[in-house]
Amino acid sequence: MISFRTKFTEQARVQYPIVCGAMYPCSNPELVAAVSEAGGLGIVQPLSLVYVHGYEFKKGLERIKQLTKKPFGMNVIVEKNAKIYEDRMKKWVNEAVDAGCRFFVTALGNPNWVVEKVKAVGGFVYHDVTEKKWAEKVVGFGIDGLICVNDRAGGHAGSRSAKQLFEELKGFNLPLVCAGGVGDETDFIEALKLGYASVQMGTRFIATSECNSHLDYKNAIVAADEKDIVKTERITGVPLAVIRTPYVDKVGLKVGPISKVLFKNRHTKHWIRLMYNLRAVMAMKRTVLKGVSTKDYYQAGKSVHGIEQIESVKVIIDRFVAATAR
Ligand SMILES: Cc1cc2nc3c(=O)[nH]c(=O)nc-3n(C[C@H](O)[C@H](O)[C@H](O)COP(=O)(O)O)c2cc1C
Repeated sequence: MISFRTKFTEQARVQYPIVCGAMYPCSNPELVAAVSEAGGLGIVQPLSLVYVHGYEFKKGLERIKQLTKKPFGMNVIVEKNAKIYEDRMKKWVNEAVDAGCRFFVTALGNPNWVVEKVKAVGGFVYHDVTEKKWAEKVVGFGIDGLICVNDRAGGHAGSRSAKQLFEELKGFNLPLVCAGGVGDETDFIEALKLGYASVQMGTRFIATSECNSHLDYKNAIVAADEKDIVKTERITGVPLAVIRTPYVDKVGLKVGPISKVLFKNRHTKHWIRLMYNLRAVMAMKRTVLKGVSTKDYYQAGKSVHGIEQIESVKVIIDRFVAATAR
């Protein structure tokens, strides 16, 4: 019998160990709220909320709170960046705390300032990691748990399997969340049996009625099998999991020779990354709102293997939960 009472569910104050991971550009407020309302934890992706779905940040949180009274979380990219970006992120974290958000997922840098802010109000901070060396850098800051991004994940996947990553990280004695490869209830049960305190899903929740991504994108996820997932450097400069399409085949998976040199050089790498990211942000927004054009990408992880239809968030979560009782 699998228990749903884990350190994660206790800290996040949710019924089930199921997280809808932050997704630029797919995290619309209705999706975040639906996952929380169904007993899991929806995570706000602030850039997606503001720049794709068109909300002033605070208003976006209000929209979520109109749809659910249950807890939700927020994703904070803490990577060193332009001051204007950092100031804006700090303002959004303050607004989320004021709105009652008490669960934060940090990624890509030093989470110290988020930990200080969130601990002061009794909240919790989990940090995204793909291997032990990244966890070692952040555990000293007082984080409460680790989001363990494995090699089957959508977005920027890791290089370890869920099992390898669990073995590598369990010694930290922190709740571990399995991010990647969970598409159906069998994957969910397997992750919990490995010892994970929760799962985090992205791709599964794109193919739902509450996600307002384009129908072409959802259908592409339903139609894809895990062998159709490839990792391309051409969107952000680092490997990103996407569904293989004729366009992906045409342009290849690697960056060109000039970009490669610019990515390696310590004086130019920030600029080239910024340029790639800006381009990616626009392209992904287009895919989500308008469907695929001949030049766009569908981001998805290998969890596509277990996704057979577009369903409502509640139907998915109820099915996962029911399967654990069998
Ligand atoms: C379209 C897409 C966008 C994503 N964007 C983000 C993001 O902005 N921040 C983040 O921390 N993770 C992001 N992720 C990773 C997810 O939060 C989650 O960890 C991952 O999707 C889990 O793997 P799965 O897709 O196999 O369920 C993204 C994933 C996808 C599929």
